[in-house]
Amino acid sequence: MKPIEIADGIFWVGAVDWNIRDFHGYSTYQGSTYNAYLIMDEKITLIDTVKKEFADELITKISVIVDPKKIDYVISNHTEMDHSGGLARIMHRVGEDKPLYCSKMGHKNLSKHFPQKWNYHAVDDGGELNIGKRTLAFMETRMLHWPDSMFTYAKEDKILFSSDAFGQHYAGLERFDDQTGEAIMTHARKYFANILLLYSPLILKLVDKVTESGLELDMICPDHGIIWRKDPAKIINAYVEWSRQAPKRKALVIYDTMWHSTEIMAETIVDALGQEGVDAQPMHLRSWHRSDIMTEVLDAGAIIVGSPTINNGLFPTVSDFLSYMKGLKPKNKIGAAFGSYGWSGEAVKLISSELEDMKFDIIDPGLKIQYVPDEQGIESCYELGRKIARALPAQ
Ligand code: FEO
Repeated sequence: MKPIEIADGIFWVGAVDWNIRDFHGYSTYQGSTYNAYLIMDEKITLIDTVKKEFADELITKISVIVDPKKIDYVISNHTEMDHSGGLARIMHRVGEDKPLYCSKMGHKNLSKHFPQKWNYHAVDDGGELNIGKRTLAFMETRMLHWPDSMFTYAKEDKILFSSDAFGQHYAGLERFDDQTGEAIMTHARKYFANILLLYSPLILKLVDKVTESGLELDMICPDHGIIWRKDPAKIINAYVEWSRQAPKRKALVIYDTMWHSTEIMAETIVDALGQEGVDAQPMHLRSWHRSDIMTEVLDAGAIIVGSPTINNGLFPTVSDFLSYMKGLKPKNKIGAAFGSYGWSGEAVKLISSELEDMKFDIIDPGLKIQYVPDEQGIESCYELGRKIARALPAQ
């Protein structure tokens, strides 16, 4: 793929990773992209790099426009190796003594990844760099989603280089929102739910800060996926909505099962929820990837988790999912636990305790059924479903 001029003198020089299917535990069914941007001004400036494996591709793209040695400044908005992995190779080609701009935490974190004593220039929040006709302004975005994260804003072009924020794991020939249509929002939503959800309060504060500062945005260029040029406000508004986590009349019944008893319970609870007008679905943990479940968790009002008891504990996939969800800190949920057991039956209590730790509103002490649900057991599942439906907001 060739470099693409996204605005006058500003080029996309990133790489498309068509084949990645697992991004540190997040399923990337449609691959990903690592976006990097080259600004041709009096001081030629490269914003971000790519994963180490794609460094040669980045250099080839840059070389179509300019000899990489002529790059004057390199900016690293984020240390994580999908954007800085190619830095060693790039700095070697650009010149090891060329200024490398990053946040103060970026300086610390890059130094922990690379032994090279580069010519670091740690910038302050609000700091600016003149590169000729353009001024680049830096905005610290600590913990969105690493301590080193920052944005770079090209003032005259009104373009925000937003690092991971507003990104999507998506590999395609399209570079812009107006080329992909609505489908891209599904990828953006999944990205938010799995990478940024726990930082929702910070996102809301950041959006307020940007709104108050009157920052004009003609284009948002994230480091993954497509560029928002048709309607940058659309993705910002979506981030505000997702960050607020307003619960819908929607329930997920997330479970695993050994001999189908917990499965029967799950499907019965879902049936009851459906009868009460709740948007409900069972999600078997060996049929659904944890990251796809998290995408659905985003706006669900009820998270109901089921596990059989195995060796006095939880089924391993249930432990895995609870641990994953806990780290992402979803808010405004009601919760309940259920499961089949043979003789000890600890799983339900363990799930309830985990959901309580996540500050879910536990609406039932938990339903456990020995071995196989009988008629009375099935009725208990229906009753639990109805109870969840009553606790959900009417919509
Ligand atoms: Fe896409 Fe936090 O790296």
